[in-house]
Amino acid sequence: MGLQLPHGGPHVLHGGQTLKVSITSIDVAGKRVLVREDLNVPLSDGGIADDTRVRAAAPTLQHLAQRGARVIVMSHLGRPKDREPALSLKPVAGRLGQRVGREVQFAEDCVGERATTAVDRLQSGHVLLLENVRYHREDETNDAGFARRLASLGDLFVNDAFAASHRAHASVVGVAAYLPAFAGELMEAELAALHQALDNPRRPMVAVVGGAKVSTKVGVLRNLLKKVDLLLIGGAMANTFFKAKGWPTGSGLVEDSALDEAKAVANEAGEKLLLPVDLVCARKMQAGEALRILESDKVEPGWMALDIGPRSVREFTQRLKGAGTVIWNGPVGVSEIRDFADGTKAVGEAIASSGGYTLVGGGDTIGAIESLGLAGRFSHVSTGGGATLEYLEGKELPGIAILKEA
Ligand code: 3PG
Repeated sequence: MGLQLPHGGPHVLHGGQTLKVSITSIDVAGKRVLVREDLNVPLSDGGIADDTRVRAAAPTLQHLAQRGARVIVMSHLGRPKDREPALSLKPVAGRLGQRVGREVQFAEDCVGERATTAVDRLQSGHVLLLENVRYHREDETNDAGFARRLASLGDLFVNDAFAASHRAHASVVGVAAYLPAFAGELMEAELAALHQALDNPRRPMVAVVGGAKVSTKVGVLRNLLKKVDLLLIGGAMANTFFKAKGWPTGSGLVEDSALDEAKAVANEAGEKLLLPVDLVCARKMQAGEALRILESDKVEPGWMALDIGPRSVREFTQRLKGAGTVIWNGPVGVSEIRDFADGTKAVGEAIASSGGYTLVGGGDTIGAIESLGLAGRFSHVSTGGGATLEYLEGKELPGIAILKEA
């Protein structure tokens, strides 16, 4: 990940020109620093399936500990209805310890006696992870009393959870009513990358947007259109654009309720929009099916588009060559099935070798680059899913709005 700040200082640019104060410029020695991280990692069989977010959180915590802070970490994990044991953060403490390079203690609750006792015992340079904040419903309702109880554990608050900053929850937003709030290093890196790509782009600026639904990304498309020179669209959402043009889409996934939106985006985009010209089609969305390459305006009944075709790959990669800035959100095919992953792999390769500043965002895109062996080849890969989308839509994220301004 490229974690360069645009101007190398202790402040973070956001939304054009607003400066946020970074925790790196504050004296933290001996202080209780309450850090919100997003350690909401994918789990499988009781283990951590992907620790990208743990790795991304580690530098802030490591540096705070090295500078003598008493580091208290809070996070959510999943969407528990209750105290669901399967969504305990306890197993994450061990992994966090490995990544931070020092022991991470664990408190069985995030408020109350178990939390306060653990914090009282915590020494300078030590790190403590609190249990899942969503074991308390009051986190999501941003209950003031709960926020105050969380805040009582710290002297300073650091929001490093960019990926959760679209949530106006107590642990992200509420605590800032009671403690001075600063940006963590991951937050800084995320904002610097988004700022560089969106507000200060080297041109030509290209956006590649894929994924299944137009409706979830229409805000992103609209906002990006104001900024980019070229918009490449792939994935199942392209079908909705095709149908809006009156083209047949076979049995492909189409979002009928978003046809008008697709039409409006296409009109607004005009020449800036490039859709796939051909498609890899199959009768079923599963591995081992017979495949056909069909023109985008000639998809036959019973066939569905599952990837962009070879001519589209050539056209897309050609247009990405020499791009000054590329923003990529969403795979252009069903990349989790190998038979339909070639388009996403080729487009990802073309973005990585475009020579421009490359920003990748959105949960499904991260999964795709990991599985296609493209990790480590982009200027910045955002840890955010929904948060990155909302940022790309041009929305103000509540967890960023509460940060102290310079
Ligand atoms: C995410 O995974 O996008 C964040 O951790 C937010 O999780 P949530 O959608 O459950 O609030």
